[in-house]
Amino acid sequence: DGDAYKYYSNGEWKKSSSGKTVAIVNPTTRKTQYKVQACTQEEVNNVMELAKSAQKTWAKTPLWKRAELLHKAAAILKEHKAPIAECLIKEIAKPAKDSVTEVVRSGDLISYTAEEGVRILGEGKFLVSDSFPGNERTKYCLTSKIPLGVVLAIPPFNYPVNLAVSKIGPALIAGNSLVLKPPTQGAVSCLHMVHCFHLAGFPKGLISCVTGKGSEIGDFLTMHPGVNCISFTGGDTGISISKKAGMIPLQMELGGKDACIVLEDADLDLVAANIIKGGFSYSGQRCTAIKVVLVMESVADALVEKVKARVAKLRIGPPEDDCDITPVVTESSANFIEGLVMDAKDKGATFCQQYKREGNLIWPLLLDNVRPDMRIAWEEPFGPILPVIRINSVDEGIHHCNASNFGLQGCVFTKDINKAMLISDAMETGTVQINSAPARGPDHFPFQGLKDSGIGSQGITNSIDMMTKVKTTVINLP
Ligand code: G3H
Repeated sequence: DGDAYKYYSNGEWKKSSSGKTVAIVNPTTRKTQYKVQACTQEEVNNVMELAKSAQKTWAKTPLWKRAELLHKAAAILKEHKAPIAECLIKEIAKPAKDSVTEVVRSGDLISYTAEEGVRILGEGKFLVSDSFPGNERTKYCLTSKIPLGVVLAIPPFNYPVNLAVSKIGPALIAGNSLVLKPPTQGAVSCLHMVHCFHLAGFPKGLISCVTGKGSEIGDFLTMHPGVNCISFTGGDTGISISKKAGMIPLQMELGGKDACIVLEDADLDLVAANIIKGGFSYSGQRCTAIKVVLVMESVADALVEKVKARVAKLRIGPPEDDCDITPVVTESSANFIEGLVMDAKDKGATFCQQYKREGNLIWPLLLDNVRPDMRIAWEEPFGPILPVIRINSVDEGIHHCNASNFGLQGCVFTKDINKAMLISDAMETGTVQINSAPARGPDHFPFQGLKDSGIGSQGITNSIDMMTKVKTTVINLP
């Protein structure tokens, strides 16, 4: 396969010795768009060795120099926003404008990470011994943050560039080396992004990008003894990774079932606008998408009418035309979504629009009067399908939210800040948004999921901290 993209190792672009490639199917045309190398376990061993030795030198590279290279990579990435966005459109059917935004946001994230890194890694702590009972001031303790070693980054298909750099930036500024395993859909966007780091002039071996089949190199990578930290975003594969991984720090973000609780006094136009943005942006393929609306019965009819009117205005079609609703990422994903819709139909949900699907393109659908016995009440469709559950009390809404296995984000709409705060405290989610749809950004905010939504906290500062360990030196005075 002469036309397949090469993988990145030791500062060079290489063909895999497997002689095999993995096809990336364009979700819109359902034809093979690109091919990437199917790397072997031996090639993984090789990048791990390189990463280990490159890290040693990198950790000794002055912090300001590491930051300078990251700023350079950020600028190059932004310069290349058009070709990278083009890949996102073709690989993951992300609408054209959102594809450009993802790349620009990623450049900003890298720059912010460099700035944050020089500050928080540039300072440590100084402790004296006589603050602890029984001690004289005979010990001075100096703390600093040191790198972990080799960080393995595994981003998901829905933000292959942004959720890769949110791992790469913190890893590198903190003095780690980085092995990237992109998702199959999104691999070429990742390779282009890695090329920007290559152009910035990072040392050889410090960054590698291996592509291939999860069945061949997935477990091999995550269980590799050379890996000192795993940062993963994706589905429940993360749970099995966490069970198999060694005694290393893990950062996992594994999806959600974000609830939108709507009280009687809410501004229903604001709610409807946020339900459209939160539920249907990128066709619902966001971990932080609104995935269930829990609305007080007394305002439910009015809210559903307002959302219906807005759904009717959504543009449905190819990502190249910057449509709002674009084909979902794979045929199997579309089939899964359809299964949830059919289950809701069988169990008597009210269809606010007719269900329609062509290939991977699924028309936006609001399902009213959803009950807890329906799969859509609990499962994550990762598609443009949104259930509405009518509630008779706020407690009922909180109860539904907390009965979920997930606990990523949630939102509450009310004009009463006191009620909003109490509801936020009661919701078992990593974040609660008051009067806006859930969202990870701005990218320096902490971002974490409870329960099956993950472990660890992300956001630029937290990720830098997580990719370091504390080292102390104690000076003992005579
Ligand atoms: O899909 C998961 C992402 O972390 C969500 O990010 O809130 O910026 O869409 P977002």
